[in-house]
Amino acid sequence: MDKEISQAVIRRLPRYYRYLGELLDDGIERISSNDLSARMHVTASQIRQDLNNFGGFGQQGYGYNVAYLREEIGNILGVNDVHNVIVIGAGNLGQAIANYVKFEKVGFKIIGLFDVNPELEGKVVRDLPIMMLDDLPKFLENNKVEIAALTLPKHNAKATALKLVSLGVTSIWNFAHVDLDDIEGLVVENVHLSDSLMQLSYNISQHKK
Ligand code: NAI
Repeated sequence: MDKEISQAVIRRLPRYYRYLGELLDDGIERISSNDLSARMHVTASQIRQDLNNFGGFGQQGYGYNVAYLREEIGNILGVNDVHNVIVIGAGNLGQAIANYVKFEKVGFKIIGLFDVNPELEGKVVRDLPIMMLDDLPKFLENNKVEIAALTLPKHNAKATALKLVSLGVTSIWNFAHVDLDDIEGLVVENVHLSDSLMQLSYNISQHKK
């Protein structure tokens, strides 16, 4: 795609994708932007504007074909393909992520779980035995891995990210509270639940006014 799409639009697409999936589950094959707007609590013009970034997908007088639109948004987000994911740091958060089955439904398949604590070696989390970090190079030789989730202490995150890059893994889903965006050749998505809580806290304070 030649045209650069704003990150704000990209950030809204997963929500469209989710709602369209729910519509399909409810047996709804097509929907007008007004109905989609009412369902999603987003203005119809916002929906049209967002989707026009990609050529629209709607037809005058028909609305949107739900399956088609979902497929197209899935293509844009790259979730119609399977992405193999490894988790580095098999503590509370790493195991919780590995245990969550639904990531697979949207194309993210967790295929390996690594740690440095020998007490965790071989412990099985949803069919996956925890491996030691030393096993990672061999594992990457034998498996195509696109994304590494970093769920380890922040002081180990940067060195681990550099090691991953040297081994050919260039996308990081970063939960460690440390900035990795300055590492050349890495695509990083940071997830900070506390940011979301602070946003909630702000909204609560606004609500009380
Ligand atoms: P935890 O202590 O239960 O698990 C961390 C695991 O990482 C341990 O099993 C430890 O042995 C392992 N580890 C340490 N160094 C490693 C290395 N170099 N390579 C591989 N594994 C290594 O901690 P928890 O609660 O699972 O949190 C993990 C990280 O995620 C922490 O940095 C925490 O601050 C962060 N976190 C971030 C959240 C977010 O929203 N971004 C939410 C919750 C936790």
